[in-house]
Amino acid sequence: MSFITRRKPIAAPVHGDGQHRLKATLSWPHLVALGVGAIIGTGIYTLTGIGAGLAGPAVILSFAIAGAVCAFAALCYAEMATLIPHAGSAYTYSYAGMGELVAWIVGWSLILEYTVVCSAVAVGWSGYAQGWLAAHDWGLPAALAGGPGAGGLVNLPAVLVTLVVTGMLLVGTRESATVNFILVIIKVVALAGFVILTLPSFNPAHFHPFMPFGFSGHEDADGTKRGVMAAAALIFFAFYGFDAISTAAEETKNPSRDLTIGIIGSMVICTIIYMVVAAVALGASPYDVFSKSGEPLAFILRELKHPLTATLIAGAAIVALPTVIMVFMFGQSRVFFAMARDGLLPRGLAAISSRGVPVVVTLFTGVVAAAIAGFFPLKIIAELANAGTLAAFIATAVAMMVLRVQAKDLPRPFRTPVWWLVGPLAVAGCLYLFWSLPFLTKKLFMVWNLFGVGVYLLYGRKHSRLAPAE
Ligand code: ALA
Repeated sequence: MSFITRRKPIAAPVHGDGQHRLKATLSWPHLVALGVGAIIGTGIYTLTGIGAGLAGPAVILSFAIAGAVCAFAALCYAEMATLIPHAGSAYTYSYAGMGELVAWIVGWSLILEYTVVCSAVAVGWSGYAQGWLAAHDWGLPAALAGGPGAGGLVNLPAVLVTLVVTGMLLVGTRESATVNFILVIIKVVALAGFVILTLPSFNPAHFHPFMPFGFSGHEDADGTKRGVMAAAALIFFAFYGFDAISTAAEETKNPSRDLTIGIIGSMVICTIIYMVVAAVALGASPYDVFSKSGEPLAFILRELKHPLTATLIAGAAIVALPTVIMVFMFGQSRVFFAMARDGLLPRGLAAISSRGVPVVVTLFTGVVAAAIAGFFPLKIIAELANAGTLAAFIATAVAMMVLRVQAKDLPRPFRTPVWWLVGPLAVAGCLYLFWSLPFLTKKLFMVWNLFGVGVYLLYGRKHSRLAPAE
C-alpha cells in the first residue's frame, strides 16, 4: 500500500468495551457547561470589535454564518469522536478515513491551530488586563504594551499569561468541572451585565448603513479583507472549542441524546449570546469607534459612564480567559501525542513525566505561543488559527462521509442527523470561510503545510508504524 493511502484501522469503540470504559456519569447539562466554558473567550470579548471594523453593523450576520457552519461541523465531529474515541481528534479521524498523508497535513494544521489559538487568547487577555491596569493608573509603557505592529516592542502581558499557564500545566494543574462551571457563570454573567447596562443607550441610527463593506467584500491595499464574510472568517474563532464536549463522549450516559443536545445546545446558546452582545454593543457605540479598542466591551461601558462594571467585565475576562488557553494547550499535547505514538513524529516528544504531563510538548507550545503572542497582532494570529481549524473541520466532515459509505456497519453511538446533507454543508461552509480569509493568511497556511509535507517525507513516511519493515 502506498504511504499516501495507508490507513489506520478503526479500533473497537470504547462504548463497546465493557472492561475499559469510563464511568458514564455525564448528562447534557454537564456537556453544555463544558462546551460553553471552552467556547466563550477572546472571540466575543475582543474580536467582536475587530469584526465590526471589518463588516460594520452586519457583523451580527457574520456571527450567525460562522455559528451555523460550526454547528454543522460540530455534528460531524461528534460522530467521529464517538466512533473513534482516541486522542488526536481530526488527525486520528483523517488517518482512519483518508490515509496517512492527509492525516499528517491535518495533524500539522492542528499543531498550528492550537499553538496560535493560545497566542490569540493571550493577546485578547492582555487587552483587558491593560485596560484594567490603566483604569487604576498602572498603565504599561508603550514599548511593553504591544508588539511592533501596535507601535511597541513586545506585548509583555500576553507573553506572561502564556508562560504562567504553561507553568501551571507543567506542574500538573487540571481544570476541574467545578472550576469550569464557576468560570462559565462568571463569563456569562459578565456578558449579561454588559447587555443590561448598555441596552438603555441603544441607538438604531448606529445600524445605518448596515453593510458598509458589502457581503463577500474586497481586500484593501494593506491586505485587510472587509465585508460580512471576511468578518465571519475572523469571528469563526469565537465558536470553536467544542472538541471539549467530544472528548467527554465516552463518559456520557446517553451519547446520542446528550451529545446532540450538548453540542447543538452550546452552539445555539453561544450564537445567541454573541449576536445579542454584538447587537447591543453596536447600538451603544458607533462600530468604527469601539472597533479600535483592545477591550471593546469594557471600553463601551466606560464610554457610557459605567466604570465599575467596566472593571468587573475586565475582571471576568482576566479570570476566565486563561482557562481557554489551558484547554487548547491540552489539545496540542494530545495531537502531538497521537502523532508521535503513530511514529510520524519522534516518540521522545510525547514523553510523559511522573506527574503525567507531556513536558516537551507543553514547553514547546508554551514558548512558541508566548513568542507569537508577544510580537504579532491579534487579527493575524486569530485568522491563522482559523485556517488550521477550518482544515481540520473539513477533514473531519469528509472522514465522516467516507466512513459512512465504506464502513457502514460500525457501531456508532452518535449518528450525524441527515449526514448526506450536514456533511456537504459543513465542507462547503468551511471552504467558503477559508476562501474569505485574507490572502496573507492563506499564504502562511500553505507555507506551513508545504514545510510540513517536507518534514513528513523526510521523517514520518519512514518512521510511521504502518511503514513496511525494511
Ligand atoms: N472560542 C475560543 C475563544 O473565543 C477560542 O477564545
